[in-house]
Amino acid sequence: MKKVYITRLIPEETIADLKKDFDVEVNMEDRALTREELLAKVKGRDAVLSLMTDKIDGEVLDAAGPQCKIFANYAVGYNNFDLAAATKRGVILTNTPGVLDDATATHAWALLLATAKRIAEGDKFVRDGKWKAWAPMFFIGLDVDGKTLGIAGLGRIGSNFAKKAVGFDMKIIYSDVNRNEAFEKKYNARYVDKETLLKESDFLSLHVPLTPDTQHYIGEKEFKMMKKTAVLINASRGPVVDEKALVKALKEKQIWGAGLDVFENEPALEPGLTELDNVVIVPHIASATPETRINMGKIAAGNIKKVLSGQAPDTCVNPDVLKK
Ligand code: GLV
Repeated sequence: MKKVYITRLIPEETIADLKKDFDVEVNMEDRALTREELLAKVKGRDAVLSLMTDKIDGEVLDAAGPQCKIFANYAVGYNNFDLAAATKRGVILTNTPGVLDDATATHAWALLLATAKRIAEGDKFVRDGKWKAWAPMFFIGLDVDGKTLGIAGLGRIGSNFAKKAVGFDMKIIYSDVNRNEAFEKKYNARYVDKETLLKESDFLSLHVPLTPDTQHYIGEKEFKMMKKTAVLINASRGPVVDEKALVKALKEKQIWGAGLDVFENEPALEPGLTELDNVVIVPHIASATPETRINMGKIAAGNIKKVLSGQAPDTCVNPDVLKK
């Protein structure tokens, strides 16, 4: 039987499914593997189901050994993969696109609304026993209806997020490496350059993948271009935003607020971030719904099954490897 290793506990359905065909071992510790453990555990496996917190590079691929055919990420983002190292060694890498668009886009909306309406801050205020009476001028938030919604990265999740804005009658602007005229027509959206996106957005939501080009896509210079009343939402990857610059921008009220699911050095946070009231912070949970997590498992397991039976996977992220 071929050997599959799963680097962290995932939904039982996926594990049971893989166990039908393979000799499966799962990391049952309630934590991610250390680098040393990862290097030791992948050894001799034919396939590994990995998490975005596992850095999969040449060293890990060599530790797995030449029989290892696939690392299937249990995530849509795959910045933890060294694509070139895998392609060079003939190892297939896959992700889980499509099934988490709704959950992630909804989560970005939850952050947007929570930030605009000061939900987390208000919740803490009440729990802390500070609420004495209703008052006309306290907890004034932001209007959302009719405002300009900026989207950086109009991929599957970015466009899903935009679609959900319809009920708020928002003006949609977006920037992306590719223009999407069908989307523009359907949502009356405008394709703009980065500078316009920064200057005009009342709410700016980031949906780009993390690549060398998008690292610190938002930093000190960008915060200066944004409106003082703007809100930044990030449910993509932490390093897309320069977190030091973000803390400064929030502290100095260069922008109004931020809603964050992801951080530059998770789970560590930039000093000062948690002391600020104008930021909503949650622990990288955008895709955390039962259906989504099961469906992510289906894709990852499906890819492993296909590859270990000699077929091409459905969602390869280093397609050059298939031409070899
Ligand atoms: C989550 O962040 C993912 O990339 O799936």
